[in-house]
Amino acid sequence: MSINRQLILESRPKGLIAPGDLRLVQGPLLDLQDGQALARVKYLSIDPTMRVWMAMDSYLPAVAVGEVMRSFGFAEIIESRHPDYKKGDRVTGLTGFQDYVVLDKSKSQSFQRVPKIPFVSDTVFLGVLGINGLTAFFGMEIAQPKKGETLVVSAAAGATGSIAGQIGKIRGCRVVGIAGSDEKCSWLVKDLGFDATINYKSADWRDRLAAAAPNGIDIDFENVGGEIMQSVLGLMNLHGRVVLCGLISGYTKEDPGLASFGTVLVKRLRVEGFILLDYIPRFMEAATQLGQWKMFGKIKDRETIVEGLEKAPDAINMLFTGGNIGKLIVKL
Ligand SMILES: NC(=O)c1ccc[n+]([C@@H]2O[C@H](COP(=O)([O-])OP(=O)(O)OC[C@H]3O[C@@H](n4cnc5c(N)ncnc54)[C@H](OP(=O)(O)O)[C@@H]3O)[C@@H](O)[C@H]2O)c1
Repeated sequence: MSINRQLILESRPKGLIAPGDLRLVQGPLLDLQDGQALARVKYLSIDPTMRVWMAMDSYLPAVAVGEVMRSFGFAEIIESRHPDYKKGDRVTGLTGFQDYVVLDKSKSQSFQRVPKIPFVSDTVFLGVLGINGLTAFFGMEIAQPKKGETLVVSAAAGATGSIAGQIGKIRGCRVVGIAGSDEKCSWLVKDLGFDATINYKSADWRDRLAAAAPNGIDIDFENVGGEIMQSVLGLMNLHGRVVLCGLISGYTKEDPGLASFGTVLVKRLRVEGFILLDYIPRFMEAATQLGQWKMFGKIKDRETIVEGLEKAPDAINMLFTGGNIGKLIVKL
């Protein structure tokens, strides 16, 4: 009998995830019933929203204490009594932090079958052709970029920001990225073709940001919030667009604070929040476009891979300390 290891939510974190907030348990895998398939989880997608799921209700209910930690992942079917799946099928969906997941026809689970593409790694379905590429795609659609406009992207060297910035280049924008290290900034300019970058950990980053956007900012692709968003808003042109993708600087705080809506008013900005789940019917259309861009080298992606289920809690924390470049994945 095989053993399933799972990370369950033991206590709601305060600040970064502390040892013991997620507890490793193990138990036997039960025999499959009719209508079920067993999939071995190969990769876990590590996303900032997981820290929110651990703490509070948001666009999804909080993970209950004692439940397996919710996560998106990539898995391969190893045994099936499910009419829709056969052994060898590969799927993405909410696998959770565990070695094996049971796909059950009687439950409302959302798994997507993904193809095997020669010379393409399985992990693209979690990054550029998964949550982050899709989020960047729909966020940039909301931004309605025009040729020659200035786009600023925060958390620019992350999974979502790096793709959003490259879509901005495809659309003819001047793209300025904000990131937390010189190494990240150099990757954005040299490899991804960003026009300018700002290391927000440098003392004079606000001046550098203003200098990098001499004609003002037309679009803010906002991933961070807080002081960074405040400074970007201050440089926005009249009728600029703010795509509110995420506010990561507040996810580990009790009181995340609010950006000044006075600036939004005075500058007549259009601020639009969005959640990727609203776009499910259009995933195929977006993934096809992203796949073409990737194939023709117009979009490049990068991954940071951490090995081992037991390392998953530390991996979540890496998102908040800037330990990743590009998509952060845990390999099981
Ligand atoms: N709306 C949606 O449906 C949707 C879907 C997916 C993701 N998102 C949002 O998109 C954003 C990026 O997510 P991702 O998955 O692509 O993660 P990511 O950008 O790959 O990783 C997060 C990055 O954020 C930066 N960061 C963390 N704390 C920060 C702080 N206090 N100030 C400035 N930068 C900080 C870190 O890089 P540095 O080294 O640069 O600090 C870190 O690498 C998040 O806000 C997330 O919630 C939204």
